[in-house]
Amino acid sequence: ALTPTGQIVDAAAAAGRGVGAFNVIQLEHAEALVAGAERAGAPVVLQISENAVRYHGGLAPIGLATLAVARESSAQVAVHLDHAESPELVGEAVRLGFTSVMFDASKLDYAENVRATREVVLRCHDAGVHVEAELGEVGGKDGVHAPGARTDPDQAQEFVAATGVDALAVAVGSSHAMLTRDAALDFELIGRLRARVSVPLVLHGSSGVPDEDLTKAVDAGMTKINIATHLNKAFTAAVRAYLSENPSVVDTRKYLAPGRDAVATEVARLLGVLRAC
Ligand code: G3H
Ligand code: ZN
Repeated sequence: ALTPTGQIVDAAAAAGRGVGAFNVIQLEHAEALVAGAERAGAPVVLQISENAVRYHGGLAPIGLATLAVARESSAQVAVHLDHAESPELVGEAVRLGFTSVMFDASKLDYAENVRATREVVLRCHDAGVHVEAELGEVGGKDGVHAPGARTDPDQAQEFVAATGVDALAVAVGSSHAMLTRDAALDFELIGRLRARVSVPLVLHGSSGVPDEDLTKAVDAGMTKINIATHLNKAFTAAVRAYLSENPSVVDTRKYLAPGRDAVATEVARLLGVLRAC
């Protein structure tokens, strides 16, 4: 069933569990993610990024389809707007019934990030919607990897108090869209952030982090673990294998179904790695 993001993430943080947050681009992603969560017996966050909205030319069609998949699932499923830089898009997600948004003003300087995030938080909280923000830009969103970016724990504590955000994305060594799983997380910094920041912490760019370090990150205090690229690799590998074995196939269902199955299998496995159940 559609479940408030705050309920899923806060319960996991209190219990020391991780929450898998996976990106939806096509309908098949949403179907695969809930299938994986149901198989694992874990809650899950389905997230749609502003980039995916740009790809589709709007939020409503893919957003409403994802909400419908969430409502029909036997698992607890939250639907989240990921990396929104536009306050208008945040407003649309709230109107459609999304359970949370990430407002990403991490490119702005600190004072501007606080001001813009604070405004979004006030409007979202009026609607009962959970807000994630980012401090200390996690690189790779634009294809430029910056694994050296770090969030300062004192500034993070101050940022949470000044903005009222419900969860905080921090830069601790990962970078977006990595195709290899060799990112080196700064576990000492995760521990210091955990000690200073009262709200659940979010790891972005988790595709580049090896399995055992994902588990260690959860144990060190990260809660929401965002994974996108890694699942697209699984999806595309299965589609590519099917197409090369069946070069005359025309029906799109024939090759998308193996992609969807591959993602469901990998999600169920990852939810175990994240101690999500
Ligand atoms: O917000 C989404 C994530 O941070 C996903 O990053 O594609 O590197 O796993 P990733
Ligand atoms: Zn991200």
